[in-house]
Amino acid sequence: MSTAFCPVSIKVLLGVSGGIAAYKAAELVRRLGERGAEVRVVMTAAARSFMTPLTLQALSGHEVRCDLLDPGAEAGMDHIELARWADLVLVAPATADLMARLAAGLADDLLTTLALATTAPLVLAPAMNHRMWRHPATQENLARLQDRGVRILGPAQGDQACGEQGPGRMLEPDEILDALALGTLSSGIGPRLAGRRVLITAGPTREALDPVRYISNRSSGHMGYALAGSLAARGAEVVVVSGPSALAAPHGVELVPVESALEMEAAVMARIGDCDLFVAAAAVSDYRPQAPARQKIKKDQTELNLRLVKNPDILAQVAALVQGPFTVGFAAETQDLEAHARTKLTAKGLDMIAANLVGGETGGFDRAENALLVLWPGGRRSLPLSPKARLADALADLIVERYLAQAPSQDS
Ligand code: C5P
Repeated sequence: MSTAFCPVSIKVLLGVSGGIAAYKAAELVRRLGERGAEVRVVMTAAARSFMTPLTLQALSGHEVRCDLLDPGAEAGMDHIELARWADLVLVAPATADLMARLAAGLADDLLTTLALATTAPLVLAPAMNHRMWRHPATQENLARLQDRGVRILGPAQGDQACGEQGPGRMLEPDEILDALALGTLSSGIGPRLAGRRVLITAGPTREALDPVRYISNRSSGHMGYALAGSLAARGAEVVVVSGPSALAAPHGVELVPVESALEMEAAVMARIGDCDLFVAAAAVSDYRPQAPARQKIKKDQTELNLRLVKNPDILAQVAALVQGPFTVGFAAETQDLEAHARTKLTAKGLDMIAANLVGGETGGFDRAENALLVLWPGGRRSLPLSPKARLADALADLIVERYLAQAPSQDS
């Protein structure tokens, strides 16, 4: 029986305060929407000097609230209703001034009033000059807020808009979203993978022909990296063994970069011993040149024959381990999706397989969206076309569900 995935939409109240990082709020609103969140935005007066409310209104699809004493806006959803509406209040960027006002419990504008009136969790993504961040006043405010259960994401180290270096950069929108774990909040399952170790392969592999050329494929790594973030957000310790990809490792995920299938195999087998789950999201090259040339191959012949040999099947090897981890594979097919995927599930001895059609209009390699048909022995579920980050959350929930169903005694 097919069960379509229907995410419960989480209601996020995004507060934007006045720092240069306010420009990242636009991306944050877009990304929240992609992950299935319903977003309402509240801006402080200073934030409006950096970003127009109209931009965030267009992206969130709702009027942006700026003033506490606005009779027009209060006639719609008043500030107490707005405070009750939110499942989560996220302030990004949170300036030193806003943190000070929150720590003092002031209610001198709409955002600080909402922070006092809501019972939803409050999460701050600070952004400020590194000296302001390190100042004892800010550090005291930070400690007071943390004591009250406010969650702080970042700041990151690095170049600052003022030209200086140090801690104070706001985390990137994707890092904030990975850390928030919206999927776990919306499904109410909590960090079910706490204490579990997950190994994921991702990206393409490169098989060298000579020192400058290689055979590879179009895999971007998006699905594997997004899944790594989603599983880390569910409390797991996640390591990604990745072929070359332009993506950064998600927040809290350890990245082990490799190039070829043989390197990927070695990196996986060296780490698989103490893993609870293994997810093979990499597009591993099926073949590699038998003997890569030591020097650059010259174009002095009219024909060139390449002898390729088969690469080891990393997933099948892991699935065959005695007392091995819960194994999840992917299957990219151009036709007869379910039949081919089920054959692969059985042939490789997997616990679960996520199959998608490639080569059509429905997503797959090198695209931002994808749809999946997930199969396991005796069951199936369709996850409809959605942005890969949101799909990764849905797949992570399903992996957790099946893993815990198989290993109930390990459930903590
Ligand atoms: O057999 P096929 O290549 O279609 O299987 C795809 C699945 O197997 C993916 O999960 C992929 O990561 C994994 N795989 C692997 N090692 C290979 C080939 C595929 O781990 N050499």
